[in-house]
Amino acid sequence: MAIERIIVTGHLGFIASAFCEKFSDRYEITGVDFGGWGSMEKNLMPGVKDIRADISDTKLIGEIISESRPDAILNFAAESHVDRSNEDDLSFWKSNVFGARNLALEASRLGIRLVQVSTDEVYGDASSSSEPWVESSPPAPKNPYSVTKAAAEMLLKVYAESKNYQLDVVVTRGGNSVGPRQFPEKAIPKAIWCFTHGEPFPLFRTPARRLWLHVEDHIDGIETALHKGQRGEVYNLAPMKESEEVTETVIEKVRELVGKGEIAKVDDRDSYDLRYWMSAAKAENELGWIPKRSLDETLESTVSWYLENMDWLEEAYDKMMAEA
Ligand SMILES: NC(=O)c1ccc[n+]([C@@H]2O[C@H](COP(=O)([O-])OP(=O)(O)OC[C@H]3O[C@@H](n4cnc5c(N)ncnc54)[C@H](O)[C@@H]3O)[C@@H](O)[C@H]2O)c1
Repeated sequence: MAIERIIVTGHLGFIASAFCEKFSDRYEITGVDFGGWGSMEKNLMPGVKDIRADISDTKLIGEIISESRPDAILNFAAESHVDRSNEDDLSFWKSNVFGARNLALEASRLGIRLVQVSTDEVYGDASSSSEPWVESSPPAPKNPYSVTKAAAEMLLKVYAESKNYQLDVVVTRGGNSVGPRQFPEKAIPKAIWCFTHGEPFPLFRTPARRLWLHVEDHIDGIETALHKGQRGEVYNLAPMKESEEVTETVIEKVRELVGKGEIAKVDDRDSYDLRYWMSAAKAENELGWIPKRSLDETLESTVSWYLENMDWLEEAYDKMMAEA
């Protein structure tokens, strides 16, 4: 079946807005977002039908999906900030698990594909591993955010294997994404805000390694999985090997690109993972997806975007402080 009409949840957030920007010519997109944490009105892309709704509202989501009759659903919507989940995880369970459940039941009812956008954080901390995670590695999430993402994956897997639901689901597990329109709670936009406002960037004392994935590589992987992913399968989306780097080095590079700024060491966050490390060989071999952007290219284009769009960053920072 040709995929023409799609539902994209979380379209006012970072990654889904990048998806909408790139693919709104290719698909008729209905965006569903409740305008929560991480969302910005300015992230609404031209040509996207904008529906404000909570994916955990079972009845409303059923009505929206019945009316839009999509050919597929891509679920990006989630509460995604680890520190906030350490303080209170109730909204994480509602959005990330109950919301995913509602979308899955609708996809099952209509017999359409659901792409569940998940994260490398479901694997937990790889700092003592000798090999990168592969898709069959056991999930071992270490904070409430990643627990809810892993829980959603497990539930969808059960629906996929159940005769009752026969859910056509494909799961992507993306690395730490970098690019335009990311809420300044996350390291890179936060660093740019700090360096341009004379505030020291608070860096956790213990070095942690992350897989820095350009958001365009991430959304290309999600779109490829939509078409080529095998029913019920999971695909890791990791950047090129050289893009695995400690946060301190990345923040130093951002400081060089901004041309000024201070870094201050602070205590580690609660439930702090020191390394995320996974192989994307399966996505490369089975989907033909390969990440194209180097770490330097990713950081240069991202820092340039924020410096050219300081009004977006100021507004996002003010919104974040008002809602914190
Ligand atoms: N940012 C990363 O590095 C990264 C890496 C891998 C996977 N992911 C996953 O990608 C997805 C998008 O992440 P992001 O960084 O763009 O997040 P984000 O916080 O920028 O955007 C999330 C969006 O979802 C919306 N939302 C949350 N709960 C909702 C609900 N109940 N109903 C409707 N809308 C709701 C928010 O309003 C927001 O607009 C998430 O599922 C996340 O787990 C993110």
